[in-house]
Amino acid sequence: MGFNRASQAYNPGMDGKDRRSSQELAREFMARGDSQGWFEELYRQAEGDPSFVPWADLQPSPLLLQLLDAHLPKPDGPAVVVGCGLGDDAEELARRGLSVTAFDLSETAINWCHERWPDSPVDYRAADLLHLPAEMHGRFGLVVEINTLQAVPDALRLRMFAPLAGMLAPGGRLVVICRVREEGERIEGPPWALCRSELDMLTADHGLENERFELLSDGEDPPRVRYVTVFRRPPA
Ligand SMILES: C[S@@+](CC[C@H](N)C(=O)[O-])C[C@H]1O[C@@H](n2cnc3c(N)ncnc32)[C@H](O)[C@@H]1O
Repeated sequence: MGFNRASQAYNPGMDGKDRRSSQELAREFMARGDSQGWFEELYRQAEGDPSFVPWADLQPSPLLLQLLDAHLPKPDGPAVVVGCGLGDDAEELARRGLSVTAFDLSETAINWCHERWPDSPVDYRAADLLHLPAEMHGRFGLVVEINTLQAVPDALRLRMFAPLAGMLAPGGRLVVICRVREEGERIEGPPWALCRSELDMLTADHGLENERFELLSDGEDPPRVRYVTVFRRPPA
């Protein structure tokens, strides 16, 4: 359900081989100075078994569905899903008639998307948010980011705001859904939940307007509060 398995994977106190193995894998890579290599390794080790991927719910995010149903106007331009994992959010956007690009750092995850959705209209690609091809800049009417910012340590995350905002066309909207951290709170990730002040950088430093900033329960067991946010690049 939703982010349940991500919670199982990361929650202290909840039993699970997944939790230990994904966090240990992440920390092993980070100890070698590589904060991102563990994603590909985790997908590779899963060998096609989604139960090994702690965030793979095999359904679209319920909080994204709520936003799409109740609040988000249909975008003028194409949509892009960042860190798309196994593709459920991207498929949902395509089902709703959007032209969708979805990318992930992990080639194995992208190959898995192709296997799961062989007839999909979604343009799945292996790509790094930190090194996007120029063609992706300024192109999208909707950018969806769920749980990827929180999957990287703070210093790396700071470098992700500019490319995220940079993908928006004038008038386009960026959705960010993530866990909540109190200002100054120290956490040992992954994941590294976000402070409000970090998300405020999207308006202060990257030219976006904030349209929606909610704290919503994700309905998990136990429930967690998440930021559900929408930012907009002002129309030209
Ligand atoms: C915690 S998972 C979330 C996946 C999916 N968005 C979800 O909510 O289920 C983070 C995803 O972001 C991908 N990722 C991490 N760093 C990335 C980067 N720099 N560029 C693109 N994808 C990245 C990982 O491979 C992983 O699939």
